Amino acid sequence: MTTIANAVTTTANASASGSFDIGGDLTVHRLGFGAMRVTGKGIWGEPEDRAEALRTLRRVPELGINLIDTADSYGPEVSERLIREALHPYKGLVIATKGGLLRPGPDKWVPNGRPDYLRQQVFVSMRRLGVERIDLWQLHRIDPGVPRDEQFDAIRAMQKEGLIRHVGLSEVKVEEIGAAQKFFQVATVQNLYNLTNRSSEDVVDFCTKHGIGFIPWFPLAAGSLARPGSKLDAVAHRHNASPGQIALAWLLRRSPVMLPIPGTGKVKHLEENVAAASIILSDAEFAELSALA
Ligand SMILES: NC(=O)c1ccc[n+]([C@@H]2O[C@H](COP(=O)([O-])OP(=O)(O)OC[C@H]3O[C@@H](n4cnc5c(N)ncnc54)[C@H](OP(=O)(O)O)[C@@H]3O)[C@@H](O)[C@H]2O)c1
Repeated sequence: MTTIANAVTTTANASASGSFDIGGDLTVHRLGFGAMRVTGKGIWGEPEDRAEALRTLRRVPELGINLIDTADSYGPEVSERLIREALHPYKGLVIATKGGLLRPGPDKWVPNGRPDYLRQQVFVSMRRLGVERIDLWQLHRIDPGVPRDEQFDAIRAMQKEGLIRHVGLSEVKVEEIGAAQKFFQVATVQNLYNLTNRSSEDVVDFCTKHGIGFIPWFPLAAGSLARPGSKLDAVAHRHNASPGQIALAWLLRRSPVMLPIPGTGKVKHLEENVAAASIILSDAEFAELSALA
């Protein structure tokens, strides 16, 4: 299997996934990269192998990926800093970041949607990434402790000021997207979604209908869909592919607005994931896989 995956990856390019226009005017290849995994255990501190994390980031554009997802809270700070170290000034790359979560410790995430905090974090991300405007800024969570309209209003103001080009939301329901749309154009939605976790099916359908980019996080179910021994094996064998590649190919086939961002801190895994862009599933395979959930 490893030999086959290696053979496939030599020609891998994310352009095979097709493209999507974020907010109608920011064109990216549909298969992107999630930069949460270039941090330490518990998404805390520096990665165990910093040199490999930097190599992975530098390999991203070489493989045709032009959408990188990060957040101020990954590390915290570490992911954005490494992205800058590896890739600034980002020629042709869209760096999408997020704000709105505090990090009191490893594996701990606490929403903070106070307008002054969101504004501070946009400035901090801009400075850390070395940009004058954030191409896609996503509200990491709607803070249930702050009226949502106050959060949306603060974001609208930052977009009007030119600090943010496009706005995305994360972990939202259809009703919440509608509420946010009264304040700004919702360019993307980032929710947990993969072959085996389909709780956001209605959100995927809504985004497809309205041309909103849908960014599924946990596209590989944190790696478990990439391991052999699951029901994906049969389809994977047919395509000389790995199960993880099939899980990504299924996502890409699910909707034209789907923008998967598999995360890794390893060049080898990155190359394997990008090769999924070239896998075309038949209608029967798509139906067979869809029934696995
Ligand atoms: N909006 C949100 O609330 C939210 C939440 C979580 C994540 N995210 C974003 O979504 C991105 C993707 O989610 P995720 O990173 O949590 O989950 P994921 O992409 O489903 O899985 C990542 C895990 O799978 C492993 N992996 C990746 N490629 C592999 C391969 N080819 N073979 C074997 N193992 C592989 C990685 O380990 P190695 O490093 O060892 O390869 C990592 O532990 C994140 O990077 C982040 O940008 C957003």
